[in-house]
Amino acid sequence: MRALAVAALPMLALLVSLPAAARGVAEGSQLFSQRCATCHTVGQGDRVGPDLMGVLKRREESWVTTFLESPGAAIDSGDPVANELVKKFNNIRMPDQQLTDDERKGLFAFFRDCAEKGSCQPGATGPKLASDATPEEIEHGRQLFEGRVALANGGPACIGCHNVRDIGVVGGGTLARDLTFSFARLGERKMTPALKQMDFPLMKELYGKAPLTDAEQYDVKAYLAQVSRDGTPPRKDRDFFYLGFVGLGVALGFIGIVLGGRGRSKDGERGDT
Ligand code: HEC
Ligand code: HEC
Repeated sequence: MRALAVAALPMLALLVSLPAAARGVAEGSQLFSQRCATCHTVGQGDRVGPDLMGVLKRREESWVTTFLESPGAAIDSGDPVANELVKKFNNIRMPDQQLTDDERKGLFAFFRDCAEKGSCQPGATGPKLASDATPEEIEHGRQLFEGRVALANGGPACIGCHNVRDIGVVGGGTLARDLTFSFARLGERKMTPALKQMDFPLMKELYGKAPLTDAEQYDVKAYLAQVSRDGTPPRKDRDFFYLGFVGLGVALGFIGIVLGGRGRSKDGERGDT
């Protein structure tokens, strides 16, 4: 019995490692677009820094690992390759990156994958990343969120139920979760489908018939990503329960309008508001 279990182990490891490798490529690609693509491409030529296509072929992996631990230290230590690169790239020193082992492994998997395919568009494998948004898209997302610009299909503004720290004196609704850190918590991978499906209580009913367009989903996502990037904690929701009732009233009003006819219930009939 034990022998069987031992024999099964390598197979299990293989089964587990395959998806893990694929995950590494996607994560590496995303990390690359977020933190390296300002200065590097993979296959589209030199920019501020060298084109990284095939970098793990032209250099030893151990060299790249040491270099990434601290480009500054590699240059200062007199490493000949690093110093040649600095000279070639106009004396611009690559800033230290602080990558975890997992992040570095993801990047390496991504580099290898690109070299194998012969080309690479970082981030192009999945939906457009929030970090690629222009200031105009972020601003448009804010206006949609706050209801300053109407949603194309007529859905209610998010501010009716959600707050974000960003919103000034008036404040948003407190019926549902404060979304300030939702993007940080959910990440690209969960936020993108969340805004597409709107599969949350109340939202499902409201936006089922009035979904956000693809562009609106993107702009709102970009806005929420922007909001989540500011690290100071939002104000405490100490009035949550009190304000929650106000928010609930607002939301029920919305639902009444959307579902039609039910918004004008007689006074006293709705004990919960
Ligand atoms: C602000 C610009 C900048 C950013 C951001 C940046 N780099 Fe660099 N990188 C450079 C420059 C410039 C060089 C050339 C060496 C030097 O001058 O420091 C370089 C060199 C490299 C090299 C060596 C290339 C070779 O041909 O051997 C690697 C590998 C590398 N960078 C990876 C990365 C990764 C991975 C990231 C993101 C986590 C990153 N860089 C972020 C500017 C940058
Ligand atoms: C009628 C009230 C209502 C409106 C309007 C509304 N939501 Fe929600 N939303 C909810 C509720 C309820 C939940 C689930 C419970 C919670 O997270 O508080 C939720 C959850 C979410 C979540 C998941 C939060 C997380 O961190 O898990 C996101 C993201 C979200 N809403 C985005 C939006 C966006 C974007 C809009 C505007 C297009 C919007 N909501 C409009 C009520 C609403």
